[in-house]
Amino acid sequence: MKIRPCEPDDHAGIDALLRSAFPEPGEARLAVALRAADADTLELVAELDGKIAGVAMFSPAMAKPGDGREIPGLGLGPVAVLPGYQNRGIGAALIEAGLDFVRTLGPSYCIVLGDPDFYGRFGFEPAPALDLHWTDDPDDKTGNAFQVLALNGAAHLPRGTRIEYHPAFDGV
Ligand SMILES: CC(C)(COP(=O)(O)OP(=O)(O)OC[C@H]1O[C@@H](n2cnc3c(N)ncnc32)[C@H](O)[C@@H]1OP(=O)(O)O)[C@@H](O)C(=O)NCCC(=O)NCCS
Repeated sequence: MKIRPCEPDDHAGIDALLRSAFPEPGEARLAVALRAADADTLELVAELDGKIAGVAMFSPAMAKPGDGREIPGLGLGPVAVLPGYQNRGIGAALIEAGLDFVRTLGPSYCIVLGDPDFYGRFGFEPAPALDLHWTDDPDDKTGNAFQVLALNGAAHLPRGTRIEYHPAFDGV
């Protein structure tokens, strides 16, 4: 397996992968929207058996503690592995390689929406327990699915902070 940055020739394979890994086309549309908005901070693919078997994207996020500050960070997603290739460590390898790279960009946090049992192994923590909230879900209806990882030795964001994904996430 080779993990490498996405190239334009990979876009069709990634689209097919996202459409087969998720029941709805929203994640495939999101990947297109992030690229179109130049918000694809990092798009990593896993190449295996001559095909794109996995993808992980990172994009800019913004945290607003409510005191006028805006603290830039990153959002992870979409993350997906082709159904026939799941549970072989590909998703974990993509996320670990992606986090290693984005740490070098210097952000103080990364957010993700997903299963805490999966993302917890990379250090993500459920945001509601930290009194951190997704702007689109101020009442925490998504529960522990919205998670935060502090990066580069940063303390967690101040309690009460609302964090938003890149505007490209809207309407996909
Ligand atoms: C979630 C996903 C990216 C994980 O990638 P993967 O290559 O299959 O995962 P890995 O082989 O690296 O890790 C396997 C572990 O993740 C767990 N896992 C896999 N999919 C999971 C899911 N949707 N929710 C929670 N845990 C999951 C497995 O149970 C396994 O746990 P174990 O190590 O304790 O046995 C992949 O399964 C996938 O694309 N699923 C469909 C799309 C999706 O749901 N994406 C959103 C992620 S929340």
